[in-house]
Amino acid sequence: MANPKILSLILFSLFAIASAKVFFEERFEDGWENSWVVSDWKKDENTAGVWNYTSGKWNGDPNDKGIQTSEDYRFYAISAEFPKFSNKDQTLVFQFSVKHEQKLDCGGGYMKLLSGEVDQKKFGGDTPYSIMFGPDICGYSTKKVHAILNYNETNHLIKKEVPCETDQLSHVYTFIIRPDATYSILIDNVEKQTGSLYADWDLLPPKTIKDPEAKKPEDWDDKEYIPDPEDKKPEGYDDIPKELPDPEAKKPEDWDDEEDGEWTAPTIPNPEYKGPWKPKKIKNPNYQGKWKAPIIDNPDFKDDPELYVYPDLRYVGIELWQVKSGTLFDNVLVCDDPEYAKQMAEETWGKQKDAEKAAFEEAEKKSDEESKEDPADSDAEEEDEAGDAEGEDSDSETKADTAEDEDEVHDEL
Ligand SMILES: *[C@@H]1O[C@H](CO)[C@@H](O)[C@H](O)[C@H]1NC(C)=O
Ligand SMILES: *[C@@H]1O[C@H](CO)[C@@H](O)[C@H](O)[C@H]1NC(C)=O
Repeated sequence: MANPKILSLILFSLFAIASAKVFFEERFEDGWENSWVVSDWKKDENTAGVWNYTSGKWNGDPNDKGIQTSEDYRFYAISAEFPKFSNKDQTLVFQFSVKHEQKLDCGGGYMKLLSGEVDQKKFGGDTPYSIMFGPDICGYSTKKVHAILNYNETNHLIKKEVPCETDQLSHVYTFIIRPDATYSILIDNVEKQTGSLYADWDLLPPKTIKDPEAKKPEDWDDKEYIPDPEDKKPEGYDDIPKELPDPEAKKPEDWDDEEDGEWTAPTIPNPEYKGPWKPKKIKNPNYQGKWKAPIIDNPDFKDDPELYVYPDLRYVGIELWQVKSGTLFDNVLVCDDPEYAKQMAEETWGKQKDAEKAAFEEAEKKSDEESKEDPADSDAEEEDEAGDAEGEDSDSETKADTAEDEDEVHDEL
């Protein structure tokens, strides 16, 4: 007999899930192409990369496919439309899984939510977006989760550092924005960062500022120490010479007073000499502390109770530049229910992660053995390293690209 308490709990959670609003869900099953549009962006320059529909070189289920970048040094842009909606008064959950099979050394693995009217055939790096979210890796310095919010036509980066995963396995990234203007960022269903949209992005001018009109009062005493007025210069202090004739010095034998002038001993520093006299310092009894301008309400601050609202969400898109290809996206979700998202992550990534890890380790072992058995292969490995160096070269390109991108962001700031 089932425990009625547990039964009602199950029924309740089923109900909760059943009531989740799912705006977009893509598990990349047969027919996925019908809902996605590959952009023509960069095609005329022959630098548009091709997406490969695959489960990748290692996976937890060969039948569970996603889309993977398949060519190096290429731009990628693809998007899907969903019935437009506003997240006003409801929670917004944006989630997807991403796997960097290529040992990503510089490139993004993020996705975007776009609003309004977008020509999907022209979707590219310059297309305005509402939210950009996901991992970004470049060299040793950048290994972070981007969470960029567009507000008042300006892109704002999150001010907190959120480290991303850097291995070659699948991970689930979740961004939750709530109607109380709080947010959470999860990786693999574990919360990595949480807080307020007010505090962790500079979307609005600050609520309070230092009073720009305030001035330090003339008589404000901010000297912590003062010369001791009681301290007196000892008598004869100034008569102590700085240097003395060296008592060890001797007039050289061949010194000729007539020719060389009168001999004087060279001088040495006087150990008694202590420099010009200074009174000792004492704590200032009138010390008032460092002066600080009073904090006042910022007259430029105007609260926006709809700070978290995107009234016209309509597309999900991926727009990337990749030096080394191999990034695989899967299980994209836009909904209003963190619990639903959590369960979807468990059903997909959660169920497959152990098998995927085992498959990855097997693949690593195999490639190790092959390179040991076949000396020609170790040549190939060397070449590979040379290729890496080349790759790093282009990284700077990517860096420039990213910098440009961020410049844009900052310009708008
Ligand atoms: C697609 O991915 C599979 C699995 O990694 C690989 O065997 C195949 O060569 C890839 N196809 C293209 C066109 O890159
Ligand atoms: C929106 O941006 C414009 C231009 O930067 C600025 O003048 C305006 O005050 C901003 N509005 C809000 C609500 O931040």
